[in-house]
Amino acid sequence: MNSVKALVLSGGKGTRLRPITHTGAKQLVPIANKPILFYVLENIISLGIKDIGIVIAPETGEIIKTTVGNGDRWGVNITYILQPEPAGLAHAVKMAEPFLKDAPFLMYLGDNLIGSGLSHFYQKFLEKKPDAQILLKAVSDPSRFGVARIDENGQVVGLIEKPKKPPSNLALIGVYLFSPKIHEAIAAIRPSWRGELEITDAIQRLIEWNCPILSEVIDTWWLDTGKKDDLLEANTIVLDEWIKRNVQGKVVDSIVSGRVILPASARVKNSQVRGPVVIGEHTIIENSYIGPFTSIGHKAKIINSTLEHCVLLDGVKVENIERLEDALIGRNSKVLKNNRLPKALKLMIGDDSVVEIP
Ligand code: DAU
Repeated sequence: MNSVKALVLSGGKGTRLRPITHTGAKQLVPIANKPILFYVLENIISLGIKDIGIVIAPETGEIIKTTVGNGDRWGVNITYILQPEPAGLAHAVKMAEPFLKDAPFLMYLGDNLIGSGLSHFYQKFLEKKPDAQILLKAVSDPSRFGVARIDENGQVVGLIEKPKKPPSNLALIGVYLFSPKIHEAIAAIRPSWRGELEITDAIQRLIEWNCPILSEVIDTWWLDTGKKDDLLEANTIVLDEWIKRNVQGKVVDSIVSGRVILPASARVKNSQVRGPVVIGEHTIIENSYIGPFTSIGHKAKIINSTLEHCVLLDGVKVENIERLEDALIGRNSKVLKNNRLPKALKLMIGDDSVVEIP
C-alpha cells in the first residue's frame, strides 16, 4: 500500500458559529485555549502520518496558514489546498486530488473533536485495506448528521445525509479512511438537495458497488463543534479530561485550587479560581471568582466579576458583572456594568449575536 496521507477539511462557511466566525475560521476557535484544528492535527500526527493536506476557503485560508504553518513544528509536511467555494465534503476531496494522487488517506473534518486516539481504527485499515472505513456514534439528534442504516448483524447497508426520518441513531463521525476508489465514487455522484457534493453519498455509492466498507461504533465522546453549546461542551470535556495543574503566574491574596493553568505572564489578585480552568498569557484577574470549566484567552481582564462555564477569547474585558454563565465571548469584546443613570442596557453588538438577559 502507498503511504497513507491525511486530508483535513478546514474550508466551509462556519455560519452556525457566527458572530465568532465573522472574523475567523471556525476550526481556529479555541478549546481550552488551543485551536480545534491543533487537536485534529496532533491526533493525525500521532498515527505517524507525515503528509497532510489542509483544505482552506478563500475567506479564512490565510489565517489558517499563518496559525498552522508548514508543519515544521511537528516534523510533517503540510500542503494547503484552496477550495474556491464550500461545495461539499466530496467536492473538497476532488479539489485535493492532485495532492492525494493514488494514496489511501485519512480524512478528518477540522471542526470534529474526539475523545480517543485513532490508532486502533487506523491499524485495522492498514491490515484489512477496505475502500472506506467509517466511525459511528449513537446520538440523540441524528438528523443533524450523516446517519447509517445497519442490518441485523450490525453491518452498514446504507448512509444518508441529514435525514428527516433517521433510519438509526448512529451518526457518522467526521473521520474517515479511504482507498483511492473514493475518487471514482465522487465522480459518480451529483449535488444533494442542499447543493453540496456529499461524502456520505460517495460512500453510499461504494456500498452499492459492493466495495468493502468497515465501520466501528465508538463509545468515547465526540463533538462536532458547530454551535455555541457544542463548543461550551467541548470546552468542558477537554478541561475535565486533559488539563493538569500548572500555576506559574503571580497569585496575590487569592485561592487558586484544583487543575488550573496560569502562565507566568498572567496574574490573579484578591480572587478565587476553582479549576478546571485555563487562563491565557498576560491575562489579569482581580476581585473575581472564576468557576470550573472556564477558558479565558490571552490578554483578557476580569475585574469584580463572577464567571463559570464560559469561553472567553483573547482580549476580552469583563468588569463588575455579578454572574456570567454559559457564555461564549468573541475577541476583544467588553462586558461591563456602569451605574450611571438612566438605568438602561447599552449595547454595541456585532451581527448574529445573542444576548440573554435574566
Ligand atoms: O461532524 C460530522 C458530520 O460532518 C457528519 O455526520 C456529516 O455526515 C458530514 O456531512 C458533516 O456534516 P456538517 O454539516 O457538520 O459539515 P460542515 O458543513 O460543518 O463541514 C465539516 C467540516 O468540513 C468543516 O470543518 C468545514 C469543512 N468544509 C465543509 C464544506 C461544506 C470544507 O472544507 N469544505 C466544504 O465544502
